Amino acid sequence: MGRAIATVASDHKKHATVAKIEKLIGSSKAIFIGVAGVALLVLLLFFSTSTSFPNMFDVSKMTVLPGKDGGATKDCATVSDQGLNLSHDPADKTFYDDPALSYEIGNPVTNWDDKRREWLKLHPSFATGAEDRVFVVTGSQPSPCKDPIGDHLNLRFFKNKVDYCRIHGYDIFYSNAFLHPKMGSWWVKMPVLRATMLAHPEAEWIFWVDSDAIFTDMDFKLPLKKYKDHNLVVPGYYDKVYEKKSWGGVNAGVFFIRNCQWSMEFLEVWAGMGPQTPNYEKWGEILTSTMSDKTDPESDDQSALVYLLLEEKETFGNKIYIENQYDLSGYWVDIVNSFDSITDNYARIEKGVTELRRRHAEKVSEHYAAVMREAFVNKSGYAGGGKREFITHFTACRPCSGQWGYTEEQCLNGMEKALNFADNQVLRNYGFVRPDLLNASFLYALPFGVSSYNKEK
Ligand SMILES: *[C@@H]1O[C@H](CO)[C@@H](O)[C@H](O)[C@H]1NC(C)=O
Ligand SMILES: *[C@@H]1O[C@H](CO)[C@@H](O)[C@H](O)[C@H]1NC(C)=O
Ligand SMILES: *[C@@H]1O[C@H](CO)[C@@H](O)[C@H](O)[C@H]1NC(C)=O
Repeated sequence: MGRAIATVASDHKKHATVAKIEKLIGSSKAIFIGVAGVALLVLLLFFSTSTSFPNMFDVSKMTVLPGKDGGATKDCATVSDQGLNLSHDPADKTFYDDPALSYEIGNPVTNWDDKRREWLKLHPSFATGAEDRVFVVTGSQPSPCKDPIGDHLNLRFFKNKVDYCRIHGYDIFYSNAFLHPKMGSWWVKMPVLRATMLAHPEAEWIFWVDSDAIFTDMDFKLPLKKYKDHNLVVPGYYDKVYEKKSWGGVNAGVFFIRNCQWSMEFLEVWAGMGPQTPNYEKWGEILTSTMSDKTDPESDDQSALVYLLLEEKETFGNKIYIENQYDLSGYWVDIVNSFDSITDNYARIEKGVTELRRRHAEKVSEHYAAVMREAFVNKSGYAGGGKREFITHFTACRPCSGQWGYTEEQCLNGMEKALNFADNQVLRNYGFVRPDLLNASFLYALPFGVSSYNKEK
């Protein structure tokens, strides 16, 4: 069995990741000089025609071309706020023009690293910063939930992901389709990730987040530098995988994978244990006998991942980082009761640092996140108490099917709290707060200079 896998994954000598490609300094420099040049010109024009120091009114006039109110919006239409040129796609041939290119799992692309690199060269505005670009993918089934509360919760869980992405300037894709008709449930993500890699050559990392996982620290960013020698990062524990051979050694519901040839091949091999293959039943038997604690005879994606870590250490395992330094997939039962005390803790810290109580535009949230990180290190006003968990994962709650793995009340209360806890971090920039994490309808406006987490009005 190991041999079959090794064959599929044989051609991966060139682990050269696109992170390591030349940084296209020439072209990004040209763009920078271009922008700076325009700014200088505007400035010169301004000072040659105006006699007074610029005030807000004059500044706003400067950005609109004379006589045309829509003058400034023309630039907005072609260049996004991240400096990406959304209308530039030269006629030069790329992998997209190859009729043999397939987006489907089962038809791996070859030489993907080269193809991606070529595309980036032709799209210099995307090449700048490509090595840190994260693209979030999540999704749910195409049909309505059996339990209608599931659809309501799916919406709110998705809203949370959209909020997180907007704050950090990430793009997000929600898939509500089975891109392979036989790959439903756990296996649904492989075909989606495979297609996303091709649809987004500008992204270095594709971040899969299950529909029932939510960002509960809106400030936290993936420490990407740490993973420069890895292509897949999954939450879990080394000893649970390598010593206990437990199928719970990792959580396959939240992970990020590098957009490179290695991943192209890895996804094929991983998906090769799925329900679309004639060997599905056999894989179920192999996984059940390999894992020390797997009782369900069906092959599942998570056991399959642990299997690959164990059996294909050279080919795949060494490129997979098992992360346990922060909650990439925090277990909700351990977390939900601490939200109130964590809220108090952050309020205490904010009380000690004036800058943290300053109102600001949502767009510059990362600045305040950095101040908060520093305050934590300094322990300003810190009297012990917890940090927000990055992601809270409602494993086994299954609100869509209504097959609650815990009591419905436990799951619903936990989710309500987590959603409002996360949303409070967003709402503060809109001037409001929810003082009661169990009541989404109860809000009040934040007074000036008051910690957003204060409970008293
Ligand atoms: C964006 O691309 C278009 C089409 O190639 C080009 O005409 C335009 O000048 C570019 N914009 C910038 C700001 O480079
Ligand atoms: C952290 O401590 C340093 C050194 O005392 C200080 O300069 C800085 O302002 C502090 N930052 C915060 C956010 O508390
Ligand atoms: C939630 O807050 C709203 C608005 O303050 C209030 O009318 C409602 O009774 C509260 N619901 C519960 C369950 O406390």
